[in-house]
Amino acid sequence: MVDIKNVVVVGAGQMGNGIGQVSLMVGFNVTLVDIKDEFVDSGYAKIEEGMKKLEAKGALGESAADIMAKCKKSTDLASAVADADIIIEAVVENMDVKKQVFKTCDDNAPAHCIIASNTSTMSISEMATATNRPDKCIGMHFFNPVPLMRLIEVIYGEKSSDESIDKGIAFAEKLPCLKGDRYIAKVLKDRPGFIVNRTTAPAQIYQNYIFDLCAEKGISWKALDNDTRGPMPTCVLADYVGIDTIYHGLVYYSKTLSPDFAPGKVITQLFNEGKLGAKTGQGFHDWSKGRPKPDKTAGKARMMKLKYPIAIMLNEGCRILEEGITTSWEVVDQALMAGINMPGVMAPNINNSAKQVEVLNELVEMTGKEYFKPCELLKSEKWVEIK
Ligand code: CAA
Ligand code: NAD
Repeated sequence: MVDIKNVVVVGAGQMGNGIGQVSLMVGFNVTLVDIKDEFVDSGYAKIEEGMKKLEAKGALGESAADIMAKCKKSTDLASAVADADIIIEAVVENMDVKKQVFKTCDDNAPAHCIIASNTSTMSISEMATATNRPDKCIGMHFFNPVPLMRLIEVIYGEKSSDESIDKGIAFAEKLPCLKGDRYIAKVLKDRPGFIVNRTTAPAQIYQNYIFDLCAEKGISWKALDNDTRGPMPTCVLADYVGIDTIYHGLVYYSKTLSPDFAPGKVITQLFNEGKLGAKTGQGFHDWSKGRPKPDKTAGKARMMKLKYPIAIMLNEGCRILEEGITTSWEVVDQALMAGINMPGVMAPNINNSAKQVEVLNELVEMTGKEYFKPCELLKSEKWVEIK
């Protein structure tokens, strides 16, 4: 096994600069690649800003300047990957673009180099078909913001070798996290959304239903945000992740899992208007002055009922077990906590399957969405034994 020294990150946006930062913090040489100098420069500047913060806190072993000296910038992917040991693709959530990136990497990177995708939803196996090294193509799914979120999912494509997965895991384990220890989840099947995004994906069907109802009734997003608890309110989190990433994800799920995932009217409109959230300064909220703060004066919308997303995610956790994506419901719970700072949904429902089946049936009745139907493993209550 060749040691990893040279890391290439393709796409210097929100995720790419986070992946670049944590890779530099370990001491790897990093090349940041994007399609325009201004995008590479902006990603580089964000990494430098993060490093300087850490330097000021005395949290870096070396000076920020010495670490940044190991970061190269490039707009020429072919030459950038010539001595790469691992490449992490973090470009837009578009299969054609990702396949093109995989092909260029395969044509130009050394034979031993691993090519990993940070896709939120899409098939690693399909990306690997653009290369002559499907055994060395894997998924490495980070969570936003990369320096603060503990989870990295390492995903088997159909042809990924055990050696490539082990190499991906060993690399992931080295990457620091500023808020606790890294948790690496091995994803055994290449299914849409993997573990965490798959668990939460159908809750987005419900969210879309609520967004559209709020728009119809003229209820403000600030009021809707006051309906939820957790580290970030619903609309703030959607803006933070990126409306484009959410939109593309829903389209992908609608083609691969069920038409019920088709993006709702509100998300489609925001996407079409280029209101992509934090990255464009406007989404549900105005981000021009930084992350929007909760506004208690807006009152509560009283639209979002927590019992529904919980039942939906429990059901999806069971589907994940049915499909063999992981072999333990504990992994689902731990990944949720490490990836999105959300307490697990499986453990609290060990004795609640029958009640949650009722909630899901009620939801099917209310929304007309068949995807919410309880799956066989939940109905049988046998998921509890898959631990
Ligand atoms: N470098 C150095 N320091 C950094 C840094 C960086 N890049 N980023 C943040 N920091 C520092 C901050 O300066 C801050 O330092 P001080 O405490 O000294 O001020 C510290 O780290 C904490 O930062 P914040 O104040 O911003 O952190 P917070 O406590 O407000 O928590 C959060 C932020 C962890 C993001 C929290 O709001 C949260 O958990 N939100 C939910 C995020 C989430 O769900 N992410 C997953 C989205 S889904 C996904 O990613 C998958 C997908 O495929 C779409
Ligand atoms: P982003 O829009 O912030 O960044 C994407 C970058 O890729 C842009 O700078 C763009 O110019 C660049 N790019 C586009 N085509 C390129 C090409 N051919 N070669 C090089 N660079 C190219 O997006 P993001 O939020 O960083 O998301 C990137 C990927 O990570 C997506 O696949 C997304 O689904 C996934 N992801 C996103 C999140 C999130 O919360 N935002 C979390 C996990 C995974």
